[in-house]
Amino acid sequence: MEKIGVVGLGIMGAGIVEVFAKSGYSVVGVAESDAAVSLGQSNLAKSLSRAVSRGKLTDEESSGITSLVTWGTDFSLMSDCDLVVEAAPEIMSLKAKIFSELDSCVKSSAILATNTSSLSVTSIAEVTSRRSHVIGLHFFNPAPVQKFVEVISTEFSDSDVVKKVVDLARGLGKEPAQIADQPGFIVNKLLLRYLNHAVRLIDDGISTRDIIDSAMREIAHFPMGPLELLDLIGLDTSVEVLNTIYDDTGIDTDGPASGLTARVNIGELGRKSGEGFYTYAQPHEPATSQDDEGKQRVYVELINAYLASACEMRDSGYATEHDINQGMKLGCGLPEGPFETIARVGSDQLPLN
Ligand code: CAA
Repeated sequence: MEKIGVVGLGIMGAGIVEVFAKSGYSVVGVAESDAAVSLGQSNLAKSLSRAVSRGKLTDEESSGITSLVTWGTDFSLMSDCDLVVEAAPEIMSLKAKIFSELDSCVKSSAILATNTSSLSVTSIAEVTSRRSHVIGLHFFNPAPVQKFVEVISTEFSDSDVVKKVVDLARGLGKEPAQIADQPGFIVNKLLLRYLNHAVRLIDDGISTRDIIDSAMREIAHFPMGPLELLDLIGLDTSVEVLNTIYDDTGIDTDGPASGLTARVNIGELGRKSGEGFYTYAQPHEPATSQDDEGKQRVYVELINAYLASACEMRDSGYATEHDINQGMKLGCGLPEGPFETIARVGSDQLPLN
């Protein structure tokens, strides 16, 4: 593969552009409007300049990466791409429209991949005339940093296509897990349930943003608190993922918490809109709280539910302990996978109290 298309240039799409360009691929970044293209360009420029300022890239390398990317609003720019990765918002009708357009204008041998966070890859494949060449390729935020990717195959997938995409992901320096098409895949199902649970603690008046975020940073040693992580993922995306999981499981607590839907309804989508659980007008410091008892209570409640959910996923046969551990460590930057936590504390000590 030589030339890669990326459709949708939000934080995730621009991150995917960066991942491919850094590995030397020619990349075409396409979005629905000139403004969306400019946003993608500026997301890439910010990320590269951060890498330069940290001494991770030279100015020449940064310019070299930028010069590998062409930008535009026209899908025909991707007609000769070998792979197109779609990273548009989580709206099935939008993805269906994009895939049917891609199908008609990108060469027939190309692989079309969706970065969907939880929608059915099978349903997306079905709108095309090349169902065997449609696959899920799911990155994690920030895409240039997180090493895990989920490669999602469907009943239609050609095994050579799956292998090509797995090999490609390895070539990008990622660790791919091959999984079947199920709502939330591995990481989002575990992660979003945990994040939603954190919002419910606020909705129910049990805890506060600062206690929850500092508990999970300080006691669990997670890199971010759940509420700041929701802001990074996007509250709209999070609601969509939870709706998909809820539609599948029918479990009440899988439905998006009201503290999430209420924010989305007033346009507070997290970092991308400048306002979510935090305000992003200025760089914010991580939340802190001196309420040690409150933090311990939150930690125990959230971690017990998260570990139980990981065990349920393994026991259902959907994913292996190894893939679940790797997903949570390499997709979300956690210091250890859930089964490593269980081994460390001893399964006879669970649930923690
Ligand atoms: N783009 C590119 N690189 C970035 C970046 C970005 N947006 N943000 C941070 N980085 C890089 C930094 O340059 C730095 O690189 P070096 O170590 O090479 O210098 C590294 O990441 C660490 O950055 P910082 O020191 O600035 O900050 P940090 O140590 O606090 O890490 C973080 C920031 C990487 C975001 C970390 O907090 C983290 O891993 N958080 C968890 C994020 C997570 O859970 N992601 C998955 C969400 S689920 C999802 O995305 C899927 C979905 O479908 C919803």
